[in-house]
Amino acid sequence: MIKIDFTGSTVLVTGGAGFVGSNVVGRIVRSGGKVIVLDDLFTGDRRNIEEGIAYEFVEGSVFDYELVRDLMARVDYVAHLAARNIIISTKNPFEDYKTNIGGTLNILMAARETKPKGIVYTSSASIYGNQKILPILEDETPLTFSPYSVSKLAGENYCYSFYETFFVPATVVRYSNIFGPHQNPLNPYCGVISKFIKAIDEGQPVQIHGDGHQTRDYTYVDDAVDATLLALLSPRADGMIFNVGTGTETSVLDMASKIAEQVGKEAILEHIDRRDIDNIRRRVLNIERIRTRLRWQPQVTLSEGLRRTVEWYLAVK
Ligand SMILES: NC(=O)c1ccc[n+]([C@@H]2O[C@H](COP(=O)([O-])OP(=O)(O)OC[C@H]3O[C@@H](n4cnc5c(N)ncnc54)[C@H](O)[C@@H]3O)[C@@H](O)[C@H]2O)c1
Repeated sequence: MIKIDFTGSTVLVTGGAGFVGSNVVGRIVRSGGKVIVLDDLFTGDRRNIEEGIAYEFVEGSVFDYELVRDLMARVDYVAHLAARNIIISTKNPFEDYKTNIGGTLNILMAARETKPKGIVYTSSASIYGNQKILPILEDETPLTFSPYSVSKLAGENYCYSFYETFFVPATVVRYSNIFGPHQNPLNPYCGVISKFIKAIDEGQPVQIHGDGHQTRDYTYVDDAVDATLLALLSPRADGMIFNVGTGTETSVLDMASKIAEQVGKEAILEHIDRRDIDNIRRRVLNIERIRTRLRWQPQVTLSEGLRRTVEWYLAVK
């Protein structure tokens, strides 16, 4: 297991009631740190956070500058995960703009006053759009196809500009599709995994957008959390951008058969219309930078991650 130590530190986790954020909260507390969660419960739910662990919860928005500044004055680090997701963002780009751009700017502006030791901002591989050269390097030119990718990229650019201009120690992690226990099937990034598990278990058709040969790079949530916290703790990461993925491409058809194997039932495939949001043909990330700079690499294989996710689903369904 990768060593992470927050002993003696307090961390503000924005979006801490969400899928990835709740796992970040658990990992920090188990690594000796104190946590304050700021979440407006838009898609989050406090039941995602490990039962029995101690943390402070503040219900509110990252768009509220004074609240953000007051909370940041009490912490050493900030893990900034709060965001409106790609589906909400496509329906209402202004909502997205307020949280994803405005909220990130608030954190960075407050940091000029409160001087945290580190900030990590969770961006998305969506900012790459459809790239020709795979696996995708961090230096590739972004192709912002959706309002969501525009806002996530703007957040990144603000992080870098505040690092350069005001010495704010901000680091960007660009997540590829993250999956694992507690993921809501409505979560647009990896809803496919939760949806497929449910359909296969219930003997229902598995709906595949288009031909099913589109690929993604699926990252198990514990690995993504480790990468995020290493980036947060390491001064060597300040001002940098890191891909967080596995470097392995998996098609939707392959995913359906891997899940069927884990569930122990057959997948009945049904091809439907091509997806209209995040319609990227192939995506896989190059992870050499984070491997060499932060000595992070994924620890959980896709089959093991799916095994754990299926086990969780069958236990709680
Ligand atoms: N899950 C993935 O595969 C993936 C991929 C790429 C990037 N990301 C990024 O990782 C982060 C976490 O994503 P997730 O999958 O856990 O999503 P999620 O929707 O489960 O979590 C987001 C959390 O932020 C909270 N939130 C939203 N707007 C807020 C606001 N204005 N103020 C305070 N809290 C607010 C939500 O209530 C929720 O708890 C996001 O920044 C997302 O852009 C996730």
